[in-house]
Amino acid sequence: MLVKHILSIASIISALAGTATSARVSRQDALGLRRRTAHEKRNGLVLHKRSTWDAPDGVISPKVFIVSMFEPEMEPWIEPFGLYAQNITVPGLSPLFPNVHCDAAGEICQYTTGESEINAASSTTALLHSPYFNLTSTFFLIAGIAGANPHIATTGSVTFAKFAVQVALEYEFVTRELPSNYSTGYIPLGADAPDQYPGHIYGSEVFELDDNLRQRAMYLANLTTLADTATTQKYRALYDYAPANQPPAVVGCDVVTSDAYWSGELLAESFGNYTSLISNGSAVYCSTAQEDNATLEAMVRAAATGLMDFSRIIVMRTVSDFDRPPKGEAAFTNLLFASQGGFTPAIDNILIAGGMIVKDMLMYWDDTYAPGIKPGNYIGDIFGTLGGIPDFGPGP
Ligand SMILES: *[C@@H]1O[C@H](CO)[C@@H](O)[C@H](O)[C@H]1NC(C)=O
Ligand SMILES: *[C@@H]1O[C@H](CO)[C@@H](O)[C@H](O)[C@H]1NC(C)=O
Ligand SMILES: *[C@@H]1O[C@H](CO)[C@@H](O)[C@H](O)[C@H]1NC(C)=O
Ligand SMILES: *[C@@H]1O[C@H](CO)[C@@H](O)[C@H](O)[C@H]1NC(C)=O
Ligand SMILES: *[C@@H]1O[C@H](CO)[C@@H](O)[C@H](O)[C@H]1NC(C)=O
Ligand SMILES: *[C@@H]1O[C@H](CO)[C@@H](O)[C@H](O)[C@H]1NC(C)=O
Ligand SMILES: *[C@@H]1O[C@H](CO)[C@@H](O)[C@H](O)[C@H]1NC(C)=O
Repeated sequence: MLVKHILSIASIISALAGTATSARVSRQDALGLRRRTAHEKRNGLVLHKRSTWDAPDGVISPKVFIVSMFEPEMEPWIEPFGLYAQNITVPGLSPLFPNVHCDAAGEICQYTTGESEINAASSTTALLHSPYFNLTSTFFLIAGIAGANPHIATTGSVTFAKFAVQVALEYEFVTRELPSNYSTGYIPLGADAPDQYPGHIYGSEVFELDDNLRQRAMYLANLTTLADTATTQKYRALYDYAPANQPPAVVGCDVVTSDAYWSGELLAESFGNYTSLISNGSAVYCSTAQEDNATLEAMVRAAATGLMDFSRIIVMRTVSDFDRPPKGEAAFTNLLFASQGGFTPAIDNILIAGGMIVKDMLMYWDDTYAPGIKPGNYIGDIFGTLGGIPDFGPGP
């Protein structure tokens, strides 16, 4: 099932360069969208009750949709894949990133959610429910930078998640205000100690993705040579353990989501414990970000509506920084002042690893990707919304 062709990024870029710029049409002109707003007078008020959109002339069915969270994650894709060929303004996207960008052929599209959970969920819901796209066969490559647990991955590494966990969905205390027998200020909802399984489940705690698709993505990413820098190597060397002090690598490990951007041994350990608890020991706390659970929650709901296929999602996070300092450095220094150097290689590796995956999708579309890569594992959320029985969660 694995690809036999090894492609360099240069060949990906040159192969696509020809088609990328050939047909610069404005999608909005082509679609000829007209907004019809129904004004209804009721009780003396003008209600803008309905806002319908004419069916677009040409619905786009991309093979792959790249999901970025902010500008630096978007930029590397634009030029090599010709994604400014079509700019499509989709109602409900972030005010900062109102446009979807697609190549001329409409095979590769990209949108930017905006950062953190609320932006990720809102933008993704708007995109998935937009009438401009038919996404039933589309693969989603969520490709962003992240922090990392130095015990699992180092800066510049490319991680692929099977599980996504929303770790800060807990009670929170400042530890100074708790008895000294509490190891952390975070306590699962509906529980009274940090190690108790939560009594209240909201539904977005854990998502599980197609592991067969993930294995193929990891294989492809592992064919590339990852970017690294001298600054990154210097900071990395301060850690006296692996893989923190090793060169960047491709790693299969899970992503945690929180609006709070933390640093420090104790919080990291506390969230690591929660990740293990909520996933019944399956998920490994590795990369840290502010969006993935929110994006995946919107995707579970769209998949339940038949708008997309939850087995066509890859969560790839490249490591820009460590979630805790090396020995002898303060957590405060690690987050706010240290020159970790990981940002540049993390951004570069989004295109290096992700470009290989996108190219594979185009090359093997008919035989492999169009029919889909059947998951061998449970996929979906903690409620079993998409069918099947989760291998984590409170159980029936
Ligand atoms: C799409 O937007 C970019 C950035 O604003 C712009 O450079 C490009 O010309 C636009 N493409 C089209 C087809 O209008
Ligand atoms: C969306 O595309 C699929 C094929 O990928 C097709 O079977 C389906 O009919 C399309 N849906 C709509 C609403 O056009
Ligand atoms: C801490 O001790 C108090 C009683 O002194 C007890 O009620 C509480 O359950 C303990 N908490 C933990 C997390 O052990
Ligand atoms: C976030 O999503 C991951 C998997 O996608 C899941 O394992 C995790 O439980 C989710 N966490 C929360 C708190 O929703
Ligand atoms: C990547 O390839 C190397 C050998 O080239 C191998 O040792 C390693 O296990 C591979 N990593 C993954 C995640 O497949
Ligand atoms: C994490 O769990 C371990 C094992 O139960 C415990 O010893 C440790 O104190 C926990 N860490 C935090 C920060 O709560
Ligand atoms: C997960 O762990 C909790 C708490 O130990 C347990 O009640 C539940 O049955 C487990 N779920 C599964 C699917 O094994």
